This record gives sequence, structure tokens and C-alpha cells, in this order.
Amino acid sequence: MSALRFSDTISAALTDGILVVTIDNAPVNALSSDVRAGLAAAFEYAEKDDAVVGVVLTGAGSSFIGGADIKEFGKPPVEPHLPDVISRIEAFAKPVVAAINGAGLGGGLEVALACHRRLAAPSAKLGFPEVKLGIVPGAGGTQRLPRLIGIAAAIDMIASGRIVSAAEALKLGIVDSVSNNILLADAIADAKSISAAAVRRTGYLSIPSGTVEAIEKAASDALRKARGQRAPAEAVRLVRLAATAPLLEGLAEERRTFITLRDSEEAAALRHVFFAERAAGKVEGLEAVAPRKIETIGIVGTGLMGSGITVSALNGGYRVIGIEQNAEAAEKGRDRIAGLLDKAVQSGRVDAAGREDRLSRLTVTADMQQLVQADIVIEAVFDDLAVKTELFQRLDGIVRADTILATNTSYLDPDVIAAATKLPERVLGLHFFSPAHIMRLLEVVNCKKTAPDVLATALALAKRLGKLPVVSGVTEGFIGNRIFSAYRREAEYMVEDGASPQEIDAALEAYGFPMGPFAVFDMAGLEIAWARRKRQAATRDPSERYVVIADRLCEAGRFGQKTGRGWYAYPEGNRTVDPEVTAMIEAARAEKGIVPKSFTADEIVSRLLKAMVDEGDTLLSEGIAARASDIDLVMINGYGFPASKGGPMFAAGRR
Ligand code: 3HC
Repeated sequence: MSALRFSDTISAALTDGILVVTIDNAPVNALSSDVRAGLAAAFEYAEKDDAVVGVVLTGAGSSFIGGADIKEFGKPPVEPHLPDVISRIEAFAKPVVAAINGAGLGGGLEVALACHRRLAAPSAKLGFPEVKLGIVPGAGGTQRLPRLIGIAAAIDMIASGRIVSAAEALKLGIVDSVSNNILLADAIADAKSISAAAVRRTGYLSIPSGTVEAIEKAASDALRKARGQRAPAEAVRLVRLAATAPLLEGLAEERRTFITLRDSEEAAALRHVFFAERAAGKVEGLEAVAPRKIETIGIVGTGLMGSGITVSALNGGYRVIGIEQNAEAAEKGRDRIAGLLDKAVQSGRVDAAGREDRLSRLTVTADMQQLVQADIVIEAVFDDLAVKTELFQRLDGIVRADTILATNTSYLDPDVIAAATKLPERVLGLHFFSPAHIMRLLEVVNCKKTAPDVLATALALAKRLGKLPVVSGVTEGFIGNRIFSAYRREAEYMVEDGASPQEIDAALEAYGFPMGPFAVFDMAGLEIAWARRKRQAATRDPSERYVVIADRLCEAGRFGQKTGRGWYAYPEGNRTVDPEVTAMIEAARAEKGIVPKSFTADEIVSRLLKAMVDEGDTLLSEGIAARASDIDLVMINGYGFPASKGGPMFAAGRR
């Protein structure tokens, strides 16, 4: 048995009449032009050599095939095209078996669907994540998957981008078996057992019958969740087409749609987000630094924030010691955490056994000495400098010397907190977003003295928590709140200049934000920002433009939604324009002699985008943010900036 090579990334070996073709294109075996050319050559060889009676296709490393090569999108296409390679595999005269050893995503699953049988390792993961990139599958996924699993199930998977486990793939009928032995050996035996006459070609199968109700429900659920995005709606249309159109017609329509979407602004933005996410959390010089081992996490404070962080840590498989001020508060904290886990069970995110397992790893106590067991302590107490500094000094006397101390502050200076401790190099900030067990964003605040391995540990921890870590330097409010403050300031300037809050909100909502800024202020409550402005009043530069309207609202007791009134009124919970606010705005303009002018929606968006980008540029020049794409991720994942626009820095560059 000698090794054959068909391209840099495709090799093969003949075992017992079966040609085992291996794709080795690290890191994820994406279908680059070299892979496609190598596959075409391998099948050419397998067709001509009579010693080959069947083919097994597999991936080297931990992926089967991670999909089309996203880096090639936006470049001129190079032959052979993926749909042609895939058609050739499907039509191949000798049996072809996919040995799915790991992730088989997008184009990777399309290759597997074209094979005549599919065997998966238990760790395999399958799905079509294309919609998350603003596209639809472009090499047969929308036409072949429904022929295996039915229209409703295919709509559910393709329009959502949901990834399924090997076990679920077996249940759905995507794979023929899950191998608990040696996958390759099973696949070779399988390929040998099928006679060439009996191969089952997915594209030639008729679609399993399903009820009209199930299909309509899957379609309407998918469209509702898509909230106006194009790709999921096109995915639904294409899967439905599979029911009526012959294979070739369906494939041609799918390819046309794929190319149109691939070349769209939305897809370019989502590709930017994809690569931004992979770049985030990478810190120059930190590659060779080993993170410390974390098994037990101490969390001081089990209120709203602390309980969310606790659930997140339990989900990550850690043991958690929650600390409260007394036994009664500890009991309440534990109930709050158990309540969040109950909700996770109700929504199907965790099963009953998973809930029990998590609770078995949790202790909530008033005995702070127990933190001697903790490898990292995260504080989530009241955001007050004196309270946090005093807590860190106490922790200094309790925890081990190698324990990391993290503060979850939103606005305080973690360098000041660190300086009050004996070992400031073990201190850093972890700025979670609320609700902490749901929100993916985590700002990791690298303080002046934070040791490299402490930072590396926080990044590794974030990854295990399933978070998206973005490193920020120390500045008031870190990356997100600095930009949000600039956005708030500009929005208020525009109100003074003549735009109404509802015009601004409508423009931003049409742009893709779930809520405009004034609706967000009302939802979050106006009093915290008011208190900050009062604190800053004495040191504020008197020549700086200052808008008093928000202060007037607070003075009138209008603290936002929870008081029923803020920038808007909320009769029966419905956001409505309040003439009283309109009068306050007009009065504030008149006091400054401002003649109100009108703004188009595009002008509103442009001005707010510019305010965010200017502040973003300042953060980059100050070295607070490492890269523009980090700023985009923070605004998308923490502040509702539409991912389909790629974040403020990306969007401004495209305008
Ligand atoms: N193309 C190009 N590069 C890719 C890639 C792809 N499809 N998938 C991953 N990469 C790169 C990443 O950019 C990263 O590069 P870096 O090391 O330089 O930062 C590297 O591979 C590792 O990626 P991850 O950090 O994400 O690795 P994980 O091990 O955590 O996850 C994975 C592996 C599950 C395969 C994950 O990378 C993933 O989900 N990839 C994208 C899958 C996808 O969207 N596929 C569909 C592509 S579109 C398509 O196939 C169209 C077709 O229908 C025609």
C-alpha cells in the first residue's frame, strides 16, 4: 500500500480495494481551490484504476471539512467549482463513503451528502452555518438535505444555521450510522459491503413525505426568527423548491441565489464579523504564555450580575463558591441561581440531569475563608470604589498567592483597585454584560500591572465559558461604554439641533438596531447617568457643549420605563411620544437660541456612526483597543449594533 498524492492537501492510500482519500488542509480542511483540484484528481484516478472498488473520504485532524474557504469569497472564482466536484462524487460509479471524523459544515456537509453513505464519529458536528455569513448553501445543500430528512426538518436546519451532533444527525437521517469503533475501519468495511449497483444517490431520492402543517410551521418559525434578514428567507424558498423542481433546476437556482448573496454588502459584513471573532482575544506576545489552571471560581456577590456569572461558570464545567454577606443572603443567592437554571431547563438549553450536575458543583456561603480553594475570584458587588477596594484588600488576606482577582466593574478604574492590593499583577477586570449567562461579550480589562499569564488565563477562561472576549485597556467605561457615551452625546446634540427622539430611534431601528438610543435609555433607566453627570459637574469644562434635557427629565421624576415615563410615556407599557417631553425639548432649544432643523434618516445614521467611529479612532490611538474589528464586536455583541452591517468601524469604511 503506497501513499498517493493528488495535490498539496489531498492524499490517498489503497486499502483492500478501497481508496481512502484524506483532506489535510489545516486548520479546518476548508475546500480551497487546491482541495477541490485534488479531490477531482483523486476521483479521476479512482475511476480509471480497476484495483479501486470504492472510495472513503475523510479529514485529517479534528475536522472533516469546515466548509468552503471563506477567504476565497470576494476573489475571482477558480476551477474546479465545488458544485462540479460534488456532482462528480454523487454520480461516481463506485461506492463512496464519507467518514465524518469531526466538523462537517457548509460545503463540508454538502460533500458528505453527495457521498453514497455517511458514517460519523460520535464527536462529529454537522450543519449549514451559511445563513450566519449572509449566504445560503451553494453546492446542493438546500436540494439534497430535504431529500434525506424532509422539507420541514431541512428548513429548520438551513434557515437557522443550527449545528447538530452526530447522535441527532443519525436520528434525523443525515448520517447512516455513528461509529463507536475505529471510524476509518468501519467506513472501509462499509464501502466494501455495498455493490456498485446498490449505491444510493441522495440527489435522486424522492423527498420523504411530511404534513403541510409541519412545513408551514417550520417556514413561519424560520421567517419570524430571521427578522427580515435575506439569507434565511432565501433558504426557506430554496428548500421548498426542492419539493417541486427537478434536482438540476433546484441546483441552478440555489447557485444563482448563493452568488447574489455572496456578493452582497450584508455577506461582506458578516464575513468581517466571522474573522473579527477569530482575531478577538489574540494578544501579540501572548501566544507562548501558558494560562494558569482554573478549576474553582469564587464569585463575590450573587445578585443579578453575580448569579448570571455563576450560571455561566457552572455551564463551563467549573466548581463555584458564591459568597454573600450572611446566611440569609446566601440562601437567596442560591435560590436565584437555581431559578436561572430552572429557566434554562424550561427553554430546553439544559436537561434535568444537567441542572443537578451544575447545582452539585455550587456552594453559596457567607464564609469568605472558603475562597482559599478558589483559583480565580470574580467580584460582582455594588459598583463603588470604596466597597470594591476594601473587598480586594480583604481577599488579599484570604486567597492563595497564585489566585487571580478579577473585578466586574463597568465604570471604576481597576488600576486603582489593583494598586490597593499586595499583588497588583494578579488583578484584572472582567466586564460581563447583563444577563451574564446569556450575553456573549466579555471585556477583559488588561490593567497596568496585570501579568501576561493572568491575562492569558482570563482569555482561556472566557473561551471555556463560551464568551467572546475582547481585550480593553483601562479607561472610563472601557471600549463599549466609551463609544456608547459618544453615541449618547451625539444623539442628545441632535435632539437639541432639531431631530426628535422618535425620529432618531426610528432611523436607527430601520438601520437594524433592535431599539433606538432613546428607547434604550428609557429601558435601562435614566438615573445612573444622571448621578454620574452630577458627580462630574464640578470638573466639567464649561466651554463643552452640554445638553440639559436628560437632567430636566430626571428632575421631573421621569426615570424611564420603570416609572412609566422618560423620553417617552408608556401608557399600558406602549412607547408613545409625550407632548410634555416635546415641550421640554423645545424650551431647551429656545434657551440656547437654536433654530431647529430637520434631519433625514440617513443624516441621523451618518452622524451617529461618525460619533462612534471618531471615538473608536481615539480608542485605537490611545491603545485601549487593539484593532478596529474588536470595537465592531463590542458594539454588535453588547450594544445592539446590527451584525449585518459589520459594526461601526466596518460600516463607516464602506459608506
Ligand atoms: N474558511 C476559511 N477559514 C476558516 C474557515 C473556513 N470555512 N473556518 C475556519 N477557518 C479558520 C479561522 O479563520 C481560524 O483561522 P485563524 O487561526 O487564522 O484565526 C481557524 O480556521 C480556526 O477556526 P476556529 O478558531 O473557529 O476553530 P475551532 O476549532 O474553534 O472551530 C470550526 C472549527 C467549527 C470548523 C469553525 O471554524 C467554524 O465554524 N468554521 C466556519 C464554518 C462555516 O461557516 N462553514 C461554511 C462556510 S460557507 C460554505 O461552505 C458555502 C458552501 O455552501 C458553498
